[in-house]
Amino acid sequence: MKKTIDLLTLKAEARKKLNGYCRVCPVCDGRACAGEVPGMGGTGTGASFMENVKALSAIKVNLSAVHDIISPDTTTSFFGQQLETPIMAAPMVNYPINTGSGLTERDAAEAIVTGSHLAGSLAWIGDPVDTAMYSSWLEAMHKVGRGVAIIKPRLNHDGILEAFAKATQNGAVAVGLDVDGAGLITMKLKGHPVGPKTSEQLRELSQSTNLPFIVKGIMTVQDAVKCAEAGVDAIVVSNHGGRVLDHTCGTADALPAIAKELKGRVTIFVDGGIRSGVDALKMLALGADGVLVGRPLIVGAYGANAEGVRFLINKYTEELYAAMILMGCANLHHIDSRILFEKL
Ligand SMILES: Cc1cc2nc3c(=O)[nH]c(=O)nc-3n(C[C@H](O)[C@H](O)[C@H](O)COP(=O)(O)O)c2cc1C
Repeated sequence: MKKTIDLLTLKAEARKKLNGYCRVCPVCDGRACAGEVPGMGGTGTGASFMENVKALSAIKVNLSAVHDIISPDTTTSFFGQQLETPIMAAPMVNYPINTGSGLTERDAAEAIVTGSHLAGSLAWIGDPVDTAMYSSWLEAMHKVGRGVAIIKPRLNHDGILEAFAKATQNGAVAVGLDVDGAGLITMKLKGHPVGPKTSEQLRELSQSTNLPFIVKGIMTVQDAVKCAEAGVDAIVVSNHGGRVLDHTCGTADALPAIAKELKGRVTIFVDGGIRSGVDALKMLALGADGVLVGRPLIVGAYGANAEGVRFLINKYTEELYAAMILMGCANLHHIDSRILFEKL
């Protein structure tokens, strides 16, 4: 008989295997791991990671149960893919240096990509640069037949195009760049220098692929508008989980102004500090079309491989479902700023 998973056992197993790289805290808020990059933390003081969690928890929602909505619909579709949930796995790579030797890159890729797929969701994969490690992610994506590939903003565009081509051959349904990786010195040390991209370069890269093109790492209205003008299909409001620049605002604080300007023109995703279905719902109410979860899914992978990742995405989706009942939202399109509490 299949073993059922419970959260406490999953976390205890993950804590053991992560061996101090992640403390698997009661709330994953960036305090215990501040400054641990490489590792699981946020860069510098860890303020940007912590701010993501704080900004979300400062938002309060309205409880409403006088209505007739009894079975809300959490399904959605992105990039032509029908999904059970708007909650997806964020791209996360380089497991040996970030999370220790408890899981190989191949095991982690298999757990994140297969687990997301089993939950009716979509995994986003990153760009470890190392060819063998990238192949592990491509193979995992190939097996389930779909995924989203986010490549580092390398100065060498041929390298980006080659990575896009490999992703396309292995089932990617969209590709993009994490432009907030523009300052990563480690990439230069590995022989793949990175840097910011102009609107013209984004347009060229977007036109170089037949797949939808995404820019991840947008925190200002100006950058978001430049992306839209460059013909980008989707953006991710993200500060890379606070791993690249200290003292940014939380993504929940950056999102509303960006959504106000661009909602409906480009697809808007967001990540950073999302730890529950209610957090996901808050982000949707602030204007996101879909959300990505990062670190907690590493805990899921370490705790119970693909089943652990499936368990957590299902758990968040069930929480989202329950919250939609208690806020009177029949489907994801019904979630908007009306569910957010405003003090008079
Ligand atoms: C260990 C680790 C590795 C990551 N690697 C990448 C990456 O390769 N590409 C990328 O775009 N983002 C990467 N990120 C950032 C995540 O995609 C995401 O933006 C962030 O983790 C979301 O915040 P959360 O972890 O608080 O949910 C990484 C994050 C972590 C923790």
